[in-house]
Formats: sequence, structure tokens, C-alpha cells
Amino acid sequence: MADRLKYGMIGGGPGAFIGAVHRAAIRLNDEADIVAWAPSSRLGAGHIAAGGAMGIAEDRIYASFEAMAAAEGAREDKIDWVVVVTPNKYHAPAAKLFLEQGINVVCEKPLCTTVEEALDLTETAKANDCLFAVTYTYTGHVMAREARQLVRNGVIGDIRMVMGEYPQDWLLDTLETITEDNKPWRADPALSGRGAAVADLGTHIENWVNYVTGLKIDSLACHLDVFGEGGVLDNNVEALIRFENGATGIYWTSQVAIGFDNALKIRIFGDKGTIEFVQEENNYLKLSLRGEPPRIYSRGAGYLTPEASGYVRVPTGHPEGLTEAFANIYKDFAAAVKDKKAGKHVVESDYGYPTLDMGLAGVEFFNKCVDSSEAGAVWVKVDY
Ligand SMILES: NC(=O)c1ccc[n+]([C@@H]2O[C@H](COP(=O)([O-])OP(=O)(O)OC[C@H]3O[C@@H](n4cnc5c(N)ncnc54)[C@H](O)[C@@H]3O)[C@@H](O)[C@H]2O)c1
Repeated sequence: MADRLKYGMIGGGPGAFIGAVHRAAIRLNDEADIVAWAPSSRLGAGHIAAGGAMGIAEDRIYASFEAMAAAEGAREDKIDWVVVVTPNKYHAPAAKLFLEQGINVVCEKPLCTTVEEALDLTETAKANDCLFAVTYTYTGHVMAREARQLVRNGVIGDIRMVMGEYPQDWLLDTLETITEDNKPWRADPALSGRGAAVADLGTHIENWVNYVTGLKIDSLACHLDVFGEGGVLDNNVEALIRFENGATGIYWTSQVAIGFDNALKIRIFGDKGTIEFVQEENNYLKLSLRGEPPRIYSRGAGYLTPEASGYVRVPTGHPEGLTEAFANIYKDFAAAVKDKKAGKHVVESDYGYPTLDMGLAGVEFFNKCVDSSEAGAVWVKVDY
């Protein structure tokens, strides 16, 4: 048991969406245990019972992330990392307090709400020698790793265009009838930041493209819509992208696209071939090479690159999904944590998990999309 890692969590109380998925993903890897928790801003008996059922000691279930950072930071047996799975507004203040205690952080996307906060987190992580992962889930799929390696191996050549789309409709009814009493946090600027769909979904496209291709955005022009009554934040986004290498892109995301569940689809066009990744069919990847019939790669097959096959958990034909994608990110992160604990020099970008600079780029992306839209969909320069 001595070698097992220990982690804590902020948010993810009963009824929350993503915190439980993080815990399940970490359990899949079977190398870390949750020992501390600040599940809510309103701690109640239900939280304490839920924490007890997970084996967390009652004195390590906290009423606030501030109290948890102070108490956990003072312990000899510190947690190895904290997971932040609250609404966006609390990401930066919570992460910062743990970094200041020398505790590594795994934070949900978007990293935070402003570029200033993101830069501050970057400084604080560096000053305290902490590791930091941002859970852009879709980089964890085996086929994302395969796509990245195919691009790195030059299989599709120089990239010319990127098309990214991410339509959903699960919030449709709520978003079309927003009142002060039924406003979900994702549509509330006080909790989400200046963007809704562009921050929640657009950053997934922006990050997946950057993660797989390494391309950096030079400038963008964006139009944000607010369909329905009462809403103030965007629920439909169209952005034109120019990359530093001269490639171009079109990104569309929507929370009001009837008939679409979680339909992230990204196509990357090079001068030798095209890669197509469809999140809802993430066990497969389509590669089309110039002059050849398209081919479908299957997760788990023997022909995958080692950079992807190292993440395969069950044989081909037995679908893996969201939880496994998170687990792969945690597998990378735990490897970095163990190496750091062993005194090795850790270069975070070598481990495969999405890093703090990717989180900063996401925050810059959605804020620049809002800037562009507010100015009439003009082209704006992207700095990070
Ligand atoms: N990577 C992904 O694919 C993915 C998917 C869903 C959500 N997310 C991100 O995860 C975060 C949480 O989203 P969600 O859908 O789970 O939200 P949610 O509303 O379902 O859950 C939020 C949780 O945070 C808790 N909370 C709120 N304020 C808190 C505070 N001050 N201290 C401690 N806990 C607090 C709430 O009680 C709740 O348990 C968001 O940033 C979202 O963008 C990422």
C-alpha cells in the first residue's frame, strides 16, 4: 500500500456530472486512492455519507476548498495531487491555493475564465515546482494518440485545412427558456466566464487540433449567437481560423443543434492525406491517403503505433469510451508524479497529458472569440 498514490477532489458531489467520471477513471488505473474531498460549497450530511462510502475519513471531508488546501498542505502525508471539477469560476482560485502548498493539480477545462488567471497559474505552478494537467478528455482516446503519431510521422504531410465541429442539444430546452431561477452555470457569466458554448465545447476542438497537429493559431474571426429568450452567453459559435503555418480552419460548435448528442468531429487535411476523428465512434479513426481507398483503423489492432497501442485496455471490438480516455490522461499524469517523487527531471510535455500551456491557449482562444464577435466578427490576433 505504501506505493499507492493519494489524491483529493474539489467538487464532484452527488448529482454532479464529471467528478464521478474522474474517480472511476482513476480507479481503472488502480494506483491512486481518494483521501480528501471538498465536494460542494454547501457541505451537508449527504456529502459526508458519500465521502464515507468512498472510504474518506470524516476529518478530511471539508466545507470549502480554502479549508482543504490549508489543512492538506500542512500534513506530512500530503496528497499527491488535487482534482478540480467545479464550475469554471472556481478553477483558478482553488488550483492556486493547492499549488501554493506544493500540491500538483489536475484541473477541468476550460482552465479558468481569464487569461490573467491562466498566466498567474502558470507562474504559481512554476514557482512551486508543481505538475499540472488540464483534462481535455478527447486527447485521452487511443485514436487521438494514433492520430497524433500519424501526423508526427508525416503520414498526412503538411497540414492545409482543419474542420472541427461539436454540436450538442442536451441543454436546448433550458437554454431556450432561461430565467434567473433556472439559469444553468454554463450559461451564467458569473460562473462560466465570458463564453458558454465557445468555452465549454469550442476549447475541446481548439485543444484537440493543437494536441494532434501541434499547430498554433495565429488569428481568428468569430461570430457568436444567443438563440432563445433570456440568454446572455453564446450557444452557437462559428469561427474562422488561421494557423501560424498558413493552414486554415473552420470551427463550429452549438448547444442548440437538435438531434446531436456529443458529436465532436474533427478532420485534418494534409497534402498527402486526411485524418477524420469522430468522438462518438472513438474506437475507430479514418485515414485517407492521396490516390488510395480510405482505411479505417481499429482501436486495439496490432498495426497501431506504440504511442497509441500502449493505452489499449481491452481487445478490439470491445468499445472503450469516456472513462478510459480520462484514465489514459491519469495514467500519464501518475507516471509524471511518480517520476517527480523519485527525483527525476520531469518534462511534462513528454508524458502525453494535456498541459498547463494548453489550458492557457484554451482560455486565450475563447476570450479572443468573444473579443472578435463583440467587434463584429473581425480578425483578431491570438497571443498564446
Ligand atoms: N472534460 C470534459 O469532457 C468535461 C465534461 C463535463 C464537464 N467538464 C468540466 O468540469 C467542470 C464541472 O462540470 P460538471 O458538468 O461536472 O458540473 P456540475 O454542475 O455537474 O458539478 C459541479 C460540482 O462542483 C461543486 N461545486 C460548486 N462550487 C463549488 C465550490 N466552491 N467548492 C467545491 N465544490 C463546488 C458542485 O456542488 C458540484 O458537485 C466544468 O469546468 C466543466 O467545464 C469537463
